[in-house]
Amino acid sequence: MKSKRVLSGMQPSGKPHLGNYLGAMKPHIELQEDHECFYFIANYHAITTVRDKKTLENMTTELAIDYLSIGLDPAKTIFFRQSDVPEVTELAWILSTVTPFGLLERAHAWKDANAKGKKNPTAGLFGYPVLMAADILAYDSNLVPVGRDQKQHIEITRDIANTFNSIYGETFVIPEDLIEKEVETIIGTDGIHKMSKSYGNTVEIFAPEEDLKKQIMSMVTDPSRIKKDDPGNPDICNVFSLQKIFNPSETKEIKQGCKNATLGCVDCKKKLLTAVLEELKKPREKRIELEKNLDYIDEVLKKGAKQAREVATKTLERVREKVGL
Ligand code: TRP
Repeated sequence: MKSKRVLSGMQPSGKPHLGNYLGAMKPHIELQEDHECFYFIANYHAITTVRDKKTLENMTTELAIDYLSIGLDPAKTIFFRQSDVPEVTELAWILSTVTPFGLLERAHAWKDANAKGKKNPTAGLFGYPVLMAADILAYDSNLVPVGRDQKQHIEITRDIANTFNSIYGETFVIPEDLIEKEVETIIGTDGIHKMSKSYGNTVEIFAPEEDLKKQIMSMVTDPSRIKKDDPGNPDICNVFSLQKIFNPSETKEIKQGCKNATLGCVDCKKKLLTAVLEELKKPREKRIELEKNLDYIDEVLKKGAKQAREVATKTLERVREKVGL
């Protein structure tokens, strides 16, 4: 029997990198083996920032291809576009009527946007956490795998669900977050910042091999290791952190080689490149195949939406009945 119900939304944001892969995509895929998973492309959330039809459509399709390439199995997992289940927007409205304004004012994403002087912040951006709560609660989700930056949104969801339950009686399952501990933060090629498009320090998992090579070979290592025969300190080297993930069988050897300067940084990075390409071999091949088959992608998402919608419709019936709508 499958155990708990897992749900997560992915906001399309362009080409996936190792940080996305290790922090979100791979853990999502692993969960589908022994959980009942609902994964969706958060295009309603995306329109709080994307204002171009073609861009939005393309990003949505690309994200679907990315996930299917790395092994999302539509026979095991319900995979859909958020906007194909419009019930969540109705639920978001109902939830907004029990959500304290102050709770949303304290949301980090909202505070950050304002601190950075965002011009004309919209009501959609302010209500972002309510829509996220609706996503989670509409499917009676138990576990929500997210990055650390989303943890507060799950707390807000729990708050909203508890408030609703206390007003109208037991209605919603109270969800928990699931945060991948080991890979909470993947550092970028600059060796300083979290890997992120905004820092331009990414290693893109589906980039052509030449580009992927360039990105890995450009990684900053132990800065005090200047010449090849200087001993290095693997514990402060970001290449070594990735070796531990992609090259577990060689980790000991690499560590020794770095410390006693028998393994240079260039060779170390080459080893990492080989290991990364090996792990990504199948997904990279699959992606090329799927790109040519957009009808299939659409079919998968439509089928997922139908399954998801059945669940959300039942939840909404329950909610309407409790509220008196
Ligand atoms: N806000 C999430 C992100 O940016 C995406 C998201 C939308 C989500 N709805 C969700 C994640 C529901 C988990 C559950 O990553």
